[in-house]
Amino acid sequence: MPKQIAIDGPAGAGKSTVARAVAEKLGFIYVDTGAMYRAMALFLSQQGVDPEDRKAIEAVCDRAEITISHVDGEQQVFLNGENVSKKIRTEEISRLAAITSAVPKVRQKMRALQHQLAERQDVVMDGRDIGTCILPEAPCKIYLTAGTAERARRRCEEYAAKGIPADFSAIEQEIIERDERDKNREISPLRQAEDAVYLDTSDMTIEQAVESVLAIAGSCAWK
Ligand code: DC
Repeated sequence: MPKQIAIDGPAGAGKSTVARAVAEKLGFIYVDTGAMYRAMALFLSQQGVDPEDRKAIEAVCDRAEITISHVDGEQQVFLNGENVSKKIRTEEISRLAAITSAVPKVRQKMRALQHQLAERQDVVMDGRDIGTCILPEAPCKIYLTAGTAERARRRCEEYAAKGIPADFSAIEQEIIERDERDKNREISPLRQAEDAVYLDTSDMTIEQAVESVLAIAGSCAWK
């Protein structure tokens, strides 16, 4: 059976950076499931669908063919044949994905894709519902989080590095709203799986967080 490491947690906790590094060290494939929801959000916005209109989303979401491939270990996301890996990294798509990812049919589609990927190879998969819903049998589950202010500070730093002006309070508020949506939606809300290890990275460097995840993985009972 392929090995599975499931990492869940709120937006901006550093999941993707840590998961990518852990996957590289272990020779696993890194699967960023948020990117799939972002690709769907991009599709829906291209179709001019109202993100709050569930019926309209369910009527068109099957026309989005989302596929994943890996180039030099880096995940690439394709939407109907187009590589949209860069296009999905905007604040607007973050906002839309947080809304449209709550639609049951959208989640069903993504679940099928995520299962296919995890059945074929050893994976480090990150998201919101990986340990609870997608890979409930994964022997290694981690709930990776950090305080709201620390997550907002990190996001501001990322913007500053790109030369983009950032307003700390606005970013912190956005993070709080996204957490609320992710944790309170009806289907597959963000929560810690009972058998997941809780890891608060507020006072950790990326290297320390990676080492902690590797230590947790090392102590898991792999089947
Ligand atoms: O991790 P991210 O910011 O790229 O995720 C974008 C959105 O997708 C986020 O608001 C929640 C949603 N998401 C989800 O519902 N389930 C997942 N497994 C991953 C992401």
